[in-house]
Amino acid sequence: FNLLPLSNEPFITYGPGSEERDALISALELMKNEAPFQVHPNVNGKDVVGNLTESQAMPWENSVNIAEYSTADQALVKQAIDGALAAKKEWCRTPLHDRAAIFYRAAALLQGPYRYKMMAATMLGQGKNAYQADIDCAAETIDFLKTFPALADQLYKNQPPINAPNVWNRTEVRPLDGFVYAISPFNFTALAANIVLAPLILGNVVIWKPSPGAIYSSWLFNHIMIEAGLPPGVLQFLPGDAVEVTDEVFNSRDMGALHFTGSTAVFKSLMGRIGSKMEFWRSYPRIVGETGGKNFHLLHPTADVRNAALKSVRAAFEYQGQKCSALSRIYVPASIAEKFKAMIVEATEALTMGSTFTDFIGPVISRSAYDRVSGYIKEAESSVDVAVLAGGVFDDSKGFYIRPTVLETKDPLSKFMTEEIFGPVVCIYVYDDADFGPKIFTLIDESTQYALSGAVFAKSRTAIIEATEELRFSAGNFYINDQCTGAMPGQQPFGGSRSSGTNDKAGTAGLLTRFMSQRTIKEGF
Ligand code: ALA
Repeated sequence: FNLLPLSNEPFITYGPGSEERDALISALELMKNEAPFQVHPNVNGKDVVGNLTESQAMPWENSVNIAEYSTADQALVKQAIDGALAAKKEWCRTPLHDRAAIFYRAAALLQGPYRYKMMAATMLGQGKNAYQADIDCAAETIDFLKTFPALADQLYKNQPPINAPNVWNRTEVRPLDGFVYAISPFNFTALAANIVLAPLILGNVVIWKPSPGAIYSSWLFNHIMIEAGLPPGVLQFLPGDAVEVTDEVFNSRDMGALHFTGSTAVFKSLMGRIGSKMEFWRSYPRIVGETGGKNFHLLHPTADVRNAALKSVRAAFEYQGQKCSALSRIYVPASIAEKFKAMIVEATEALTMGSTFTDFIGPVISRSAYDRVSGYIKEAESSVDVAVLAGGVFDDSKGFYIRPTVLETKDPLSKFMTEEIFGPVVCIYVYDDADFGPKIFTLIDESTQYALSGAVFAKSRTAIIEATEELRFSAGNFYINDQCTGAMPGQQPFGGSRSSGTNDKAGTAGLLTRFMSQRTIKEGF
């Protein structure tokens, strides 16, 4: 308990002939044969069996469902809130050590018996290849499970520095009054874990609405937490219609916080709704959210072009560009533009796409994602200001497949440079070398509402310093000569500001403070 983990959970590479690869292949085959899985809300530790009215298609093969599920109606949401508040009486008094033991047991379950099952669920249900699934549902999730207890312990130890004569001052770390409402995304199992684990470790109870795009892996994560010993009612798993569940949650005065990862538009509307009835809430609800991005790479004329091109391909197209941190706009100086474009096109065209677990590119998550992203590509193809340098091809006859697409525009304010597409599309804008400086920084800073991740590529130290200073508020995660995705827990705390979120970095002590409410106690003698 005294030590933070000094290293992250190692990745498994699933190389040809390895034991892990065989185990994963078996888990995938078994899961394909057993799907669709039946998923129900889990309230007070028990599945509440209802009609299987909803389903989630496998993005790889959209005629087959990974899960069929029933949803929580308003009466069940109310029951879940009542059950959570009842369970909280004991959970908030459970010593941190005992809560930590549950987290560590869950980490061990994920490292051991559940690793391949969770991998298979994330791959089949969320369309990840083995590498992307491993860094997410295994490594990063285990990191959060192992890190939060130690971070919470530091907060508990953080006491007022001064005691006067005959006085003992202390602060008690309490959870928030009420419950935490958690809404998680499809794109990272680890972010769903972060969403529920941060409040839980401090003794909060959580009403969790999982994403319809990650129903099975979310259910599995809930199941692992229960098997690890989480008491009934502490985490209530409520798949359902977002509006219906939220309406009922917002009918309770006891919502102490909203913990959200998802789209900017939904987060803003939830914030608006919370703000519109401030007299109603028992406490001021804490509002914590991680939302969209329009993340950038900026190349300086001294950039290592090959490094910038290869890192751009990875940042733009890993997991089909469906990371909130994914690269989607690139600013390249004219002097190196032709070389950069040739390299990024060559590397993009070499990417394999398919459903074997080592293909770099898989499908996008759903029909609506496919329609949205292919819509942008069709618009790019018919626009005179935009050239399609690579990709531009899509096909949903089996799965939701979109070839990684590189665009170039002459208009730095075009929608392809300013709107979040959330798919495998990246747009290049070539600028005059002389504009590196205030002109390009202002353009990057002011042309979007977002500030999530970004990178500068340069060999010139002066350029690096200038970009790092001048783009101070343009990204919550800023990288130098490296890609703007792939933040590692404990190494690069992740989150952005402006319309990208409240920037309460995932997996950190800073995030935990949002879910604690201290009581100061002065005792005289
Ligand atoms: N933490 C993830 C990344 O940085 C979203 O790519």
